[in-house]
Amino acid sequence: MSDVDADLRGAAGFTANPHPYYAALRAAGPVHTVRTDEFDRIWLVVGYDAGRAVLADPRFGKDWRELPGQSGGGDPINANMLEMDAPDHTRLRKLVAREFTPRRIEALRPRVQQITDGLLDTMLPAGRADLLDALAFPLPLTVICELIGVPDMDRAAFRVMSNAVVSPAGAREEGDAVRAMGTYLTELIEDKRCSPGDDLLSALIAARYEDADTLSRDELVGMAFLLLVAGHETTVNLISNGVRALLAHPGQLADLRADFGLLDGAVEEMLRYEGPVENATFRFARESVRIGSRTIAAGDPVLVCLAGADRDPARYPGPDRFDIRREAQGHLAFGHGIHFCLGAPLARMEGRIAIRTLLERCPGLVSDPDAGAPDWLPGMLIRGVRSLPVRW
Ligand code: HEM
Repeated sequence: MSDVDADLRGAAGFTANPHPYYAALRAAGPVHTVRTDEFDRIWLVVGYDAGRAVLADPRFGKDWRELPGQSGGGDPINANMLEMDAPDHTRLRKLVAREFTPRRIEALRPRVQQITDGLLDTMLPAGRADLLDALAFPLPLTVICELIGVPDMDRAAFRVMSNAVVSPAGAREEGDAVRAMGTYLTELIEDKRCSPGDDLLSALIAARYEDADTLSRDELVGMAFLLLVAGHETTVNLISNGVRALLAHPGQLADLRADFGLLDGAVEEMLRYEGPVENATFRFARESVRIGSRTIAAGDPVLVCLAGADRDPARYPGPDRFDIRREAQGHLAFGHGIHFCLGAPLARMEGRIAIRTLLERCPGLVSDPDAGAPDWLPGMLIRGVRSLPVRW
């Protein structure tokens, strides 16, 4: 007999469509043990209420240095707020939070629109494109690079490295990518230190060198990593998963085109229905925690399945139905609790602008009929496709 409730390692069709697996587990209860590519046994929380509760529960920690026998994720890119608990988390988040308030983000609107327009100007004459390459990828990466202050970054090289970190094909590829990313960002920061500007990264570098207690050298690299990677890997997939869902539901696409007053709700539904983050990042129980009939032992690793929570029928009736008019608010696509996505206002604005402008300028947008089956990213963290061929 298996020592886990479900073996998801290499489960048939899991990467292309994990929802039936999560639904089957959820029907049996909100908390299960599963086997994944990375863990022989990990707790998976698939229900909405239980998932939301775990995300806000300080008995579940993120700082693996607390666990006996852990090397502490010695790579500098791991020295970031998403891998920490209070008070380190509070200190690091406070350093950048004011740059990401809804008001600060609203001021970026004209620039986000301008970048979107420029990308579509380039894309439109061809009549067909890979929407990932043409819009969904370059828009968020350009925005976050400008916001942080690295406008000249080699984006193609960064994309390869970043993809390998968040959706690795295997453990070795992940280790190599993490080290390459650390080296790349250390050099980037060194260059920036020599030619500072009026931007966020320069301010963080100045803070680091004026007062070493503000943030350590590794934390500076970790911050750059988190903002750059979280700032684009996810929004790419909001745009592409969202457009995919619309193209698969032509009636709702027509409704949205006819009334852009539906846009904000439609974007929330895109986040709920096929959110870019399938499972939140790992947590571990800092003490033994009982949820329903299950007891998670101290030190056990835990995954909160955001895709499973956001398709919980107890929270969203008919959860597998894409419906731009439903009340999707309260979804967990941006997480919950102290690690709630810092970039949510920016992601929402980018998603709304990208999708509206695309629909306005491409009245005949359809999936490319010659495209093969979608190539889904591997791993359980990011939900998205590698390319999205479209025509208009
Ligand atoms: C649609 C796009 C996005 C989605 C779905 C998303 C989702 C998430 C989720 C689920 C978390 C929490 C993970 C966990 O608790 O394990 C998170 C955290 C975070 N996100 Fe986003 N994100 C998006 C865009 C962005 C953008 C544009 C930025 C820009 C900087 C960003 C920055 C961050 C940061 C810094 C954290 C860590 C916050 C903390 O630990 O306190 N995200 N995001």
